Amino acid sequence: MIRDCTKADFSAIETIINEAAQAYRGVIPDDCWHEPYMSGSQLQAEIDEGVNFSGWDDAEALRGVMGLQRVRDVTLIRHAYVRRADQGRGIGSRLLTELTGRSAERLLVGTWADAVWAIRLYQKHGFKLVSRQEKDRLLQTYWNIPRRQQGVSVVLEHAR
Ligand SMILES: CC(C)(COP(=O)(O)OP(=O)(O)OC[C@H]1O[C@@H](n2cnc3c(N)ncnc32)[C@H](O)[C@@H]1OP(=O)(O)O)[C@@H](O)C(=O)NCCC(=O)NCCS
Repeated sequence: MIRDCTKADFSAIETIINEAAQAYRGVIPDDCWHEPYMSGSQLQAEIDEGVNFSGWDDAEALRGVMGLQRVRDVTLIRHAYVRRADQGRGIGSRLLTELTGRSAERLLVGTWADAVWAIRLYQKHGFKLVSRQEKDRLLQTYWNIPRRQQGVSVVLEHAR
């Protein structure tokens, strides 16, 4: 089932993100890859900035997480990760459907341009890639990510 994450889930979220992010290794530009992909302090900073995580919990453990962050007049989908052993079983799709339904505002998601599997997943769920010019504008306005990452990212918008 899908449930809101709490403080008690912090280390599980950290583990899921860093395990699932191994998918980026050798795919995204080498200078953008680092390990751990997200440190505990980076994760805490994201939560402090308003990222609310939901998770897929099968009663034994959290299997996947996805965050929603309201930034001014838009909502962002942030940090979508499912444990490697549980990928491809519909958990990411269910989390995405749930979180998409929770926002009535303009809904955006950003990811690495090279993460073609993630782009495909978002497109299957009604998101459309925005133009390069609009992507740059949106990333500068609503995200707090390094300029290098902006250059190798894409933004998709949910077509309501
Ligand atoms: C992207 C991600 C969150 C999707 O979660 P998921 O639970 O695997 O997604 P689903 O099971 O709902 O599948 C979504 C699609 O991706 C495919 N897929 C994704 N990862 C897969 C894997 N490891 N094995 C098989 N299929 C996979 C599925 O086949 C499915 O495609 P289809 O509907 O055309 O068959 C998850 O795969 C993941 O954590 N990937 C690595 C990190 C990442 O890319 N995060 C996105 C950040 S923006």
